[in-house]
Amino acid sequence: MSLVLRGKRINVRSFKKSDAESLQENINEKLISQFTRAPYPYNLQDAEDFIDLSNLELKNKKSFLLGIEFKETGKVIGGISLMDVDWKKKEAELGYWIGKNYRGKGLMKEAVDIILKFGFMEIKLERITADVSTKNPASRKIVDKMKFKYCGWKFEEGWGRLLLKRMLIFELFRKDFVK
Ligand SMILES: CC(C)(COP(=O)(O)OP(=O)(O)OC[C@H]1O[C@@H](n2cnc3c(N)ncnc32)[C@H](O)[C@@H]1OP(=O)(O)O)[C@@H](O)C(=O)NCCC(=O)NCCS
Repeated sequence: MSLVLRGKRINVRSFKKSDAESLQENINEKLISQFTRAPYPYNLQDAEDFIDLSNLELKNKKSFLLGIEFKETGKVIGGISLMDVDWKKKEAELGYWIGKNYRGKGLMKEAVDIILKFGFMEIKLERITADVSTKNPASRKIVDKMKFKYCGWKFEEGWGRLLLKRMLIFELFRKDFVK
């Protein structure tokens, strides 16, 4: 099963085996590992395993772990996900990262917009949440811009990094999503 959600400068799409190199190149950064579940250093095998996992999760409709493709080159430059979809409650958790060479251009906002539209309009979720570290102002900016509202906080256990200990939880309901 493959999925392509088309945007202006980027597409959000399922991963292909041939994405492994550009995935590894863009995600292999300490900062990304501090704020996501990606390991650092991130090697080619990690990328190949993640691509296999993402396609399995897509097939099982468990999580949508998608790539952000820069249309100009066709390469994957970031990742964006709706994770752990709860089909009963109609909820999922948003996650995202983008390679350092592509930040500050509004590309992530475009990608988030695309996946929210997909989440609310196509798979009919009612609520999407995002966990943002108090140490991550760039990510906080993104959820604020998309009109997510703060709804609580939690300790993130098991990730073992000081930066991740306290996470703020943000939520967006379908009725508040502006198309
Ligand atoms: C979070 C992330 C996806 C943002 O991507 P981006 O598209 O490059 O976002 P931008 O650089 O356009 O920044 C978004 C906004 O945050 C602001 N911002 C960026 N870095 C900032 C910082 N360190 N402090 C405060 N604001 C910051 C930008 O000015 C921008 O605001 P503007 O649109 O009003 O100008 C990217 O930094 C990233 O991949 N980080 C590592 C992984 C990560 O943290 N993922 C999120 C996990 S919840």
